[in-house]
Amino acid sequence: MFLAVLFCLCWSFQISSGHFPRACATSRNLMAKECCPPWTGDGSPCGQLSGRGSCQDVILSNAPSGPQFPFKGVDDRESWPSVFYNRTCQCSDNFMGFNCGNCKFGFGGPNCTEKRLLIRRNIYDLSVPEKNKFLAYLTLAKRTISPAYVIPTGTYEQMNNGSTPMFSDINIYDLFVWMHYYVSRDTLLGGSEVWRDIDFAHEAPGFLPWHRLFLLRWEREIQELTGDENFTIPYWDWRDAENCNICTDEFLGGRHPENPNLLSPASFFSSWQIICSRPEEYNSQQALCDGTPEGPLLRNPGNHDQAKTPKLPSSADVEFCLSLTQYETGSMDRTANFSFRNTLEVFLNNGSEDTVLC
Ligand SMILES: *[C@@H]1O[C@H](CO)[C@@H](O)[C@H](O)[C@H]1NC(C)=O
Ligand SMILES: *[C@@H]1O[C@H](CO)[C@@H](O)[C@H](O)[C@H]1NC(C)=O
Ligand SMILES: *[C@@H]1O[C@H](CO)[C@@H](O)[C@H](O)[C@H]1NC(C)=O
Ligand SMILES: *[C@@H]1O[C@H](CO)[C@@H](O)[C@H](O)[C@H]1NC(C)=O
Ligand SMILES: *[C@@H]1O[C@H](CO)[C@@H](O)[C@H](O)[C@H]1NC(C)=O
Ligand SMILES: *[C@@H]1O[C@H](CO)[C@@H](O)[C@H](O)[C@H]1NC(C)=O
Repeated sequence: MFLAVLFCLCWSFQISSGHFPRACATSRNLMAKECCPPWTGDGSPCGQLSGRGSCQDVILSNAPSGPQFPFKGVDDRESWPSVFYNRTCQCSDNFMGFNCGNCKFGFGGPNCTEKRLLIRRNIYDLSVPEKNKFLAYLTLAKRTISPAYVIPTGTYEQMNNGSTPMFSDINIYDLFVWMHYYVSRDTLLGGSEVWRDIDFAHEAPGFLPWHRLFLLRWEREIQELTGDENFTIPYWDWRDAENCNICTDEFLGGRHPENPNLLSPASFFSSWQIICSRPEEYNSQQALCDGTPEGPLLRNPGNHDQAKTPKLPSSADVEFCLSLTQYETGSMDRTANFSFRNTLEVFLNNGSEDTVLC
């Protein structure tokens, strides 16, 4: 999970999701490399007194590093989270979280022993009040500073190896935008050098587990924020859709009548600001995205990849993808053939000339 070690399928990197518990963003924690905050229920680190967990050395995978990343010791995300912390909470039973204060996904109740089944629903099956509730939750998340997490605004080195912490508040919605940025950003090599071929969440076997965890974490944050323990993110079934049919003011926002890159002023999201949209700027300054608002949401549905017709996968494409029996193949990257992961991720249109077959 965030600061626990997650044995992932990706090249050899631990999954780096970029959650920094506020309680561990101090120079004391960074210098000691320990992130074992107290559980509020009993005040002991990792809820140890209640048998929830204990503070343990982080055990790293010793799988070899893949060819995507020919460096060692230059990127904070390597061997996550060991650059920042080498002791974290390890939780027992169904407990989870940076202080073992949460339940594993699929469990609830005071001792995390009650099974919970949550179902994600088609956005078109939501009633109007349910849909409005979903939008209201998003607004609340966008307006609420995360009580539990902060984001680093500098690298470990820029923090003088932990002695001068650089962290910022962030709202709950943007925390997830930032995490996605952080895991997929380029490696800063110093001077004006960057390494662009690395990505800790895409174009490799870790794609599915990383994003699955990401969505589960996101749902959990919304559940905690709203007290709606049954909240799930609705899905959009785009099979056979001719265009972005949820890009309407009722749902994710229609197109601005004059500027195709902007949302319609009547859209719920037209007043939202984006973050982490200028990777070249951060790279040139050898800096990290610090979560500062960078302007209105930009969207231009249907025009991302003009070459693909139809632009969205068909039912037959989905059937084909699901018929692939190997999760991952060969090079395990964006050129992998007949890889379920790669086909799913890149929507490789198997009939077209310009893409690798599956
Ligand atoms: C963890 O980091 C601290 C501080 O750098 C160091 O003293 C300690 O030996 C490390 N522990 C392990 C298990 O690597
Ligand atoms: C939870 O566990 C504690 C400690 O084992 C126990 O005292 C308590 O009764 C349990 N609560 C429930 C609701 O099962
Ligand atoms: C941080 O640690 C690295 C590696 O141990 C060392 O080379 C560097 O001098 C340290 N920087 C500071 C500011 O302490
Ligand atoms: C969540 O769903 C369960 C099972 O349907 C129900 O018993 C519970 O009351 C719901 N909780 C809330 C907060 O709506
Ligand atoms: C391409 O995908 C379709 C389904 O979209 C499938 O029926 C067909 O067999 C695939 N072609 C090849 C060459 O794999
Ligand atoms: C995938 O198949 C194509 C076409 O047969 C081939 O040119 C390419 O080298 C294969 N890619 C890998 C990574 O094996």
